[in-house]
Amino acid sequence: MKQQKTYLVTGGAGFIGSNFILYMLEKYGDDIRVVNVDALTYAGNPENLRDVETKENYRFIRADITDHAAIGAVFAEESVDIVVHFAAESHVDRSIADPEVFVRTNVLGTATMLNAARAAWEKEDGTYLPGRKFLHVSTDEVYGSLPEDGGYFYEDTPYAPRSPYSASKASSDLLVKAYTETYGFPANITNCSNNYGPYQFPEKLIPLMIHNALEGKKLPVYGDGKNVRDWLYVVDHAKAIDMVIEKGVPGETYNIGGHNEKQNIEIVKTIIDILREELPEDDARRAHLSYDLITYVEDRKGHDRRYAIAPDKIKREIGWEPETMFAEGIRKTIRWYFEHEAWMDNVTSGAYQEYYEKMYSV
Ligand code: NAD
Ligand code: DAU
Repeated sequence: MKQQKTYLVTGGAGFIGSNFILYMLEKYGDDIRVVNVDALTYAGNPENLRDVETKENYRFIRADITDHAAIGAVFAEESVDIVVHFAAESHVDRSIADPEVFVRTNVLGTATMLNAARAAWEKEDGTYLPGRKFLHVSTDEVYGSLPEDGGYFYEDTPYAPRSPYSASKASSDLLVKAYTETYGFPANITNCSNNYGPYQFPEKLIPLMIHNALEGKKLPVYGDGKNVRDWLYVVDHAKAIDMVIEKGVPGETYNIGGHNEKQNIEIVKTIIDILREELPEDDARRAHLSYDLITYVEDRKGHDRRYAIAPDKIKREIGWEPETMFAEGIRKTIRWYFEHEAWMDNVTSGAYQEYYEKMYSV
């Protein structure tokens, strides 16, 4: 039988994880095996992986990353070469409303994954089985907030997280760094800016605005709408992670970003403009499309003003650069959402309705 490299992907039923799995199986075919470990919280959707779920080199395991026994069993059953650790609570607003689950999943869950990987990979002499790597997927939010008039996040920018979400991600990064220092554990950390693309849960800015605009609902913009995020097409992120796994120096951190800063209000207006251009003339969903839907609402507590990544190191040392221009990526994304109404209906029914009503008081 062919020697397959086995990737254990946590959180592979979420937005970035599912895009990553689809990208990897498309790129490497059956040269690799993917084991997707996901607890299927509200954010996990196995439907995202329908195209690959019957493949022999894909396996889904429903498990919580804080469950030592379940994670230990995965490592016992599978000969894992690479861990790609996406699983996390990922939404800032939810972390403000309920911080504890963020600490549990993001901090304790990461510790559980690190311990299980170390137990499986470390040899008696303290070195590690060859070819093993733990890729910890993290965020630019660990660096805090930048002023409007300049500055970038570099790998050596001091950590200054300001929300419970970013504090929990910063803590998880520090644990990974501690494992590399203390145990010589073979890991990389990637800190990425805001992703957009297919399969993103509509609690996040871009899919929420597309969904509401299609339904003729208000578009809730926090504060003055001038907060800046640095947007990256999700497939470019998947490619960057693959390249860091292949070429990243163990122990190093790499920042990933699109050099693509936009104010939130610009994004919202672009969504309306593109929906007007792209929706067929006879599509009933055109009826309410207008800037009049934009509604300024109370600001997010502790709202970070601006994020901007300097992706110089990953370009210089790994050769990765963003490929998808925002104008192209956002059009593709918007088209994907209005062509996948059933996907949107499935994820916005039930618990999401309750969340939305509570969060936005509408
Ligand atoms: P997501 O919320 O869409 O997906 C998270 C996935 O993790 C879901 O499938 C969920 O079921 C799973 N999960 C949650 N808790 C779990 C647990 N206890 N055990 C097992 N599985 C669990 O998140 P995303 O946007 O795809 O983000 C993935 C990772 O990338 C996160 O670590 C996030 O911090 C990081 N990140 C996200 C962005 C972004 O813009 N979305 C940018 C940079 C970094
Ligand atoms: O920077 C990377 C981070 O990007 C990731 O680590 C997080 O997991 C991911 O959720 C994202 O965090 P943000 O808080 O930047 O993304 P969100 O889509 O929630 O919000 C983007 C901006 O839009 C932010 O300034 C808040 C604003 N916003 C958001 C929502 C949901 C609104 O104005 N209205 C809204 O309804």
